[in-house]
Amino acid sequence: MAARTALISASLLAMMIASACSRGGSSAPAEADASVTIVEAGAVETSAAVIDAGAAPPQPAVADPFGTARTAPKTYCSAVAGKHLAEKDLRTSFVSGDDLLAIVNRSPQGQLAPDWAPSDLVELRTGAAASASECDKTHCLRKEAAGALSDLLGEMKKKGFPGKVESAFRSFGTQCGTFLRWASKGGFCEATEQSALPGHSQHQLGTTVDLFTEEWAASERGVFREGFGCTQAGRFLQEHATDFGFVMPYPIHPDDRHPKQSCVVRWDIPININPKTGYRFEHWHIRYVGKEAAARFVKMLAASGVGKPDEITVEQWLRSERGLVGADAELPVCDGCNCGACSTLSAPGESACDKKGGALHLDAHGRPLPASAPPEIASVKRGSQKKWRGRVVEVKLDVPHGVATQPPVVGPEAAGYAAGSTFEKLAPYPETSPRGYAPLAGAWVVGVEPIPNDTGVAWPWRAAITPSITGQIYNRANVLLPARPGATTIKIPLPDRTTRVKVILLEAGAPKGEPIELELR
Ligand code: DAL
Repeated sequence: MAARTALISASLLAMMIASACSRGGSSAPAEADASVTIVEAGAVETSAAVIDAGAAPPQPAVADPFGTARTAPKTYCSAVAGKHLAEKDLRTSFVSGDDLLAIVNRSPQGQLAPDWAPSDLVELRTGAAASASECDKTHCLRKEAAGALSDLLGEMKKKGFPGKVESAFRSFGTQCGTFLRWASKGGFCEATEQSALPGHSQHQLGTTVDLFTEEWAASERGVFREGFGCTQAGRFLQEHATDFGFVMPYPIHPDDRHPKQSCVVRWDIPININPKTGYRFEHWHIRYVGKEAAARFVKMLAASGVGKPDEITVEQWLRSERGLVGADAELPVCDGCNCGACSTLSAPGESACDKKGGALHLDAHGRPLPASAPPEIASVKRGSQKKWRGRVVEVKLDVPHGVATQPPVVGPEAAGYAAGSTFEKLAPYPETSPRGYAPLAGAWVVGVEPIPNDTGVAWPWRAAITPSITGQIYNRANVLLPARPGATTIKIPLPDRTTRVKVILLEAGAPKGEPIELELR
């Protein structure tokens, strides 16, 4: 559980991003469909490839990185069906849970089938084989993971902080109950930040445990409280769980770590989810991937720059193992909570976020569908914005449904360009380190360039086509976001002394159409 500030700001931001986002019955009623639909793998162009600012050729397409989609024969977890999740998102799953490196996350592509459970579960205490339904009443893991956990627990005991398993394998049905319990306490949207929707939990893989210590668990304040990562055991797990083949998928984003104690979140800015993982941090959630794979993760993590904005998480490592390049992560499934930053497999008009905020629509392979038409600039003028002493360009756009955009998100609630900053070097929030936002295939942004251009970068000041509030979370990653559909205005704060600029739309970093010039004096 994150800090109190995080809890408050999380709800606030979710409300702001969602604004008037309809949470109500957007999906079709459950229909009894006894068939299992196999969607054929096809050689679809990847839209996740990075295109260098200098328009280098995209990375080769990965044929079908998310696996083959299955449609569940009926709706499970009826409490979230229809009201929050489009029918298609609830019933479609891509992931093969048998794979120790399966990508299971908050996105529509990261869902396990409702009827999937591991076939080699064992009870942790006795080591005896057990069925999924037996395991719902006790603690179980897959056999190999259980062996590794036993070694890890042995080491923790030797070190003087005996471990305590709070939760291990959870079936789809159990996860439905777990999620709904969280939702009954803090509300649906807050629950989504710390508890996976059914099908999206790594606990269903049978390789994941919530691991504390006996001492920590003995407190009356409950185990999911802040500070476990700062205990001796918490630090041991962060440093040594990988020696036993376990990785920790939900760290604190480097931007959000407390400057003095990196094991807790900073308190001076809103901390919500880490967009590279989709969740708040969990220093107790460890997932078995095997020792060799864990060593590969450690190597890639070190190379990414620990503590730096580009520090990877397990999510980015698993994506790279699968050949997914470009975007840091896929967006969460549209459940009505994060409209303007979510994705859905449902048809346009069926998602809770289609009317307000927007949603990225995906094809049957889990890849973003192209927009029906490109966005267009309606007008450009000098804007005013109290917060920024420098210049502001206000760009009005007509945005069709289905247009994708990407960070940086700029404007009053997010980032702004000061002297020396460009989209290749921009601090996403006060007191955060600058980072670059490499152009993503399929993403449209507004580009601004000074006349004359003394920055050394083409179209140095770029801006996502989305309200700036979205940037508070999503500037912490480089992801494809849905552009705000309809008549949309964005404000781009520019360095002081900028006197003349030209404005254009860029797709994947490449200018489209004729630029519009503007005097700012
Ligand atoms: N708490 C993690 C996200 C889960 O529910 O799987």
